Amino acid sequence: MKKNKILITGAAGQLGQEFVSYLEKTNFQVKALTRKEADFSDSEGLQGLESQLLKFKPDFLINCAAYTAVDKAEEQSALAEFVNADSLATLVYLAQKLDFRILHFSTDYVFDGTGDEPWTEEDEAFPINIYGLTKRNGEELLLDSELTLILRVSWLYSEFGSNFPKTIDRLLGEQEELNIVNDQYSSPTWTKPLVEFVVNNLLCNAELFDGTLYHYSEDGEGSWYDMASIINEKHGKRLNAVSSKEYIQVAKRPAYSKLDNTLAKEKLGLEPKTWQENLKEFLKIIQ
Ligand SMILES: NC(=O)c1ccc[n+]([C@@H]2O[C@H](COP(=O)([O-])OP(=O)(O)OC[C@H]3O[C@@H](n4cnc5c(N)ncnc54)[C@H](OP(=O)(O)O)[C@@H]3O)[C@@H](O)[C@H]2O)c1
Repeated sequence: MKKNKILITGAAGQLGQEFVSYLEKTNFQVKALTRKEADFSDSEGLQGLESQLLKFKPDFLINCAAYTAVDKAEEQSALAEFVNADSLATLVYLAQKLDFRILHFSTDYVFDGTGDEPWTEEDEAFPINIYGLTKRNGEELLLDSELTLILRVSWLYSEFGSNFPKTIDRLLGEQEELNIVNDQYSSPTWTKPLVEFVVNNLLCNAELFDGTLYHYSEDGEGSWYDMASIINEKHGKRLNAVSSKEYIQVAKRPAYSKLDNTLAKEKLGLEPKTWQENLKEFLKIIQ
């Protein structure tokens, strides 16, 4: 039987590493490209990607490459736009030419964060920072292509790279008290179940790749403070809930960006655990 070939871009990032680690244990043939081998910053870098694609001839390209530095993007908007949006036009062109499908990830930061009802795929995106704007522009280039599927995700964490739960766990080990923002709500996403879902529910069904955008999220919602409280259960330190105004960041963040996962449940067979269950399991793994 023909083994499906998967090419992963941004393979050194936290999601990219999770894909590589999981796919290596499957029957898929995998090629992992880091920024060095496939640089999305300019057309020269994208030529490097094209030659890798010509050699490997993937069935699926999983795009984990992205400009993700939310605050820095405010001053590097041109680079963020090229990586998160312009380069995707080249990806679509190459997918049509070489006949492969693209799985792409976007973000809850495409929403402005007003209201208190989970955001659906039908809701209008209205980014309030440059990162969110570039990711929205990227989505628009992929929507309605016959070869793409876009998953919006929120607040990713994994065993790989640096992220909120790992940082808070370390800081709570070192300090007696921490201030944590308690007025931004969404839901954290562990990359392990996300990757398992993609491999088991999406890569086996190329027909799903028809330019549709879905929201992937774990059940429930919470704030950064709620997450930190679970991490603090083993440390028992003092957590102070603070507002975004007291914790100044360069880029604005949406106050409420929980993604409604109903469509993914209905159409893609998503059966998520609650974010609290996943976070507790993750914390056991990293001990
Ligand atoms: N992290 C989150 O909370 C979050 C939330 C919602 C959506 N997302 C989306 O989920 C996806 C994966 O995010 P992540 O958390 O895995 O991000 P990440 O850990 O920052 O990984 C991004 C990867 O992209 C690579 N990259 C950056 N600029 C590049 C360029 N010019 N050319 C090629 N590669 C480049 C980085 O390379 P280096 O390793 O060399 O820096 C890194 O390996 C992204 O699309 C992101 O927008 C993330």
